[in-house]
Amino acid sequence: MASSEQERWAGSSDITSVFRVKELEEQQRTLLKSVICAFNQLLDLRDLNTGIHSTRLAEWAVRVARSLEIGEEDFYQLEVAALLHDIGKIGIPDAILKKEGKLTDEERALMNKHPEYSWSILRLFPGLDKASLYALHHHERYDGRGYPGGLKAEEIPMGSRIVSVIDAYDAMISHRCYHKGLPHEEAVCRLIAGSGIQFDPLVVQAFVKIAEREFADVFAATDSSPAAVI
Ligand SMILES: [Fe+2]
Repeated sequence: MASSEQERWAGSSDITSVFRVKELEEQQRTLLKSVICAFNQLLDLRDLNTGIHSTRLAEWAVRVARSLEIGEEDFYQLEVAALLHDIGKIGIPDAILKKEGKLTDEERALMNKHPEYSWSILRLFPGLDKASLYALHHHERYDGRGYPGGLKAEEIPMGSRIVSVIDAYDAMISHRCYHKGLPHEEAVCRLIAGSGIQFDPLVVQAFVKIAEREFADVFAATDSSPAAVI
């Protein structure tokens, strides 16, 4: 083969390889997206409240991250953490997960294992290292009295601090079979009261501004209503 012909052949083979790699990467991304959606559905099937709640959290999470000027490369990790931070609840028996009365110390200890279970599931997904870390620490408190690590203030990953605030807010305003949802204003007052104690003050401040402005948009985008039993 003449050398110019060889070079041409090698060039076209390189281009084919690049296209093939891109195609495989795209397939992997699509597959990962489907698996994430399937896990979210699984949460919905296991505990009807959780799936819709998680979808709404993903919507809030990206809006808060944008206002805190967090790098866009972290949006996806945060979105996944917001969607699947409670996936570990799959490992908690129904008798505890759906118990209406107060949990015993033993039951509470088992329930508090769910962030670690979430981490142990999410860390197996390729490229979701940060999302799994955010899920692991979503029940830490700003004052260091949370779990599982007892991390304090900036020791807690920012993604976890965001999930903590929006998770608490959404749980407060949602109607459940065992409690009636609070009005938005009351939920915001409680977030502000917990600012610097349970929650990161910067995240609370950013969230409150967004919530006032974009409350209706978030519910419309997630096809849900705070007034319904969700
Ligand atoms: Fe949780």
